[in-house]
Amino acid sequence: MKRTKINELLKLEKTPGDVLIKGWVRTKRDSKEFSFMDINDGSCLKNIQVIANNDLKNYADIVKITTGTSVAVTGKLLESPGKGQKWEIQASDIEIIHIADESYPLQKKRHSDEFLRTIAHLRPRTNKYGAAFRIRSEMMFAVHKFYREKGFRYLTTPLITGSDCEGAGEMFRVTSLDPEKVRKQGKMNFKEDFFGQESNLTVSGQLPAEMFALALGDVYTFGPTFRAENSNTSRHVAEFWMLEPEMAFCGLKGNMDHGEQLVKYLTQFAMDECHDDMALFTQFVDKSLAKRIDTILNAEFGRISYTEAIDILLKSKKKFDFKVEYGTDLQSEHERFLAEVYFKKPVFLTDYPKEIKPFYMRMNDDEKTVAAVDLLVPGIGELIGGSQREERLNMLEKRMKKMNLPMEDYWWYLDSRKFGSAPHSGFGMGFERFLMMITGISNIRDVIPFPRTPGSIDF
Ligand code: 4AD
Ligand code: MG
Repeated sequence: MKRTKINELLKLEKTPGDVLIKGWVRTKRDSKEFSFMDINDGSCLKNIQVIANNDLKNYADIVKITTGTSVAVTGKLLESPGKGQKWEIQASDIEIIHIADESYPLQKKRHSDEFLRTIAHLRPRTNKYGAAFRIRSEMMFAVHKFYREKGFRYLTTPLITGSDCEGAGEMFRVTSLDPEKVRKQGKMNFKEDFFGQESNLTVSGQLPAEMFALALGDVYTFGPTFRAENSNTSRHVAEFWMLEPEMAFCGLKGNMDHGEQLVKYLTQFAMDECHDDMALFTQFVDKSLAKRIDTILNAEFGRISYTEAIDILLKSKKKFDFKVEYGTDLQSEHERFLAEVYFKKPVFLTDYPKEIKPFYMRMNDDEKTVAAVDLLVPGIGELIGGSQREERLNMLEKRMKKMNLPMEDYWWYLDSRKFGSAPHSGFGMGFERFLMMITGISNIRDVIPFPRTPGSIDF
């Protein structure tokens, strides 16, 4: 018989008679005459109840089944008299595939997120993490669906790179040099290295994406990015996924419109397509989540300048740990105050002082600020960071010189400003931060399968 996944079984309107399921035992209760088991196969949040009568040939073994055991169950799909479940299976055969050892740590009781992080290889077997990672998968698909519907082309940009897009110097080195030899020579001889020059893991696919936007029009790159910043916060990981659209003939307003559409589309997709999994989060993880999602879907996002934001923060009279001052970067506490307390909805901040933003952002007419845009959201702070790009060759060269960037390394980037340059814009959205926002999960380590953070590379 062909196996049916539990999510498919639960959709059935009428019983097909006999079915075969395969999964893991979540709970089991025994009586003299029968054994009840809840089986989960990972296809959905819900379990299916299996009833095993004591006349099954291997009943003596069935009684010994432990939590976590893998089984294959054949039996009749019957309407369940139990509350909250449509179907149950009256087993005619239970094959025990593997008995889980008694030491299986995921017994019935609730576990803390901190504990589950220490068993990240097993946590997807819990309701909460199963739901989180199904939603993650659906959101990956939704990203591609959104862009396909909009006529964008999907671009994969290199993970190993010779340039530092953000210029923050927070990169992981890629090398094939022998550490022993480096030690003896007292330095790294990059000429001898694999690529014949310094190379790193990318912090962003933006620069290559710009080249393709100026050829294919609207593109997006979506892949892992790496940052060696030593920030041990609940919002930073060293390896994360970034979604980066880049649009030719698009200014800052178009960039914001696009960001708002994207966030709304993905959130709506989660609500429509991940109903049960999302309900777990709105009901049990974060009581304010349903309202927040409603705001994301229905409110028009705020749009103010960095300067206006500083005014709001200064006038708020709130005591922040970090001082608010024009010209300095906003801290997460400031960003959250603006989104959570002041606007109570997502808000775009534009036109930041040039000193705190990278070289590629378009200079505004005031020559003090650049056409940057960040999207700040309640519960997270910065979700999106982007800008209109500097498309004017002379302005770009001027800025790069001022910032002491090695121009010769960027010859190809500068070429794009020589041959049919055009206004263009884009941004990066942290995929994990988006997942935190829609699930209410408060630590980024819990929305990525195996988090990489300073001092920790387990699993
Ligand atoms: O603001 P960032 O640094 O922007 C860029 O890298 C641009 N080159 C993107 C572009 O314009 N194409 O990063 C973009 C987003 C942030 O808003 C944040 O959501 C996420 O990436 N992010 C991180 N997420 C998790 N862990 C980290 N260490 C992150 N650093 C940035
Ligand atoms: Mg940023």
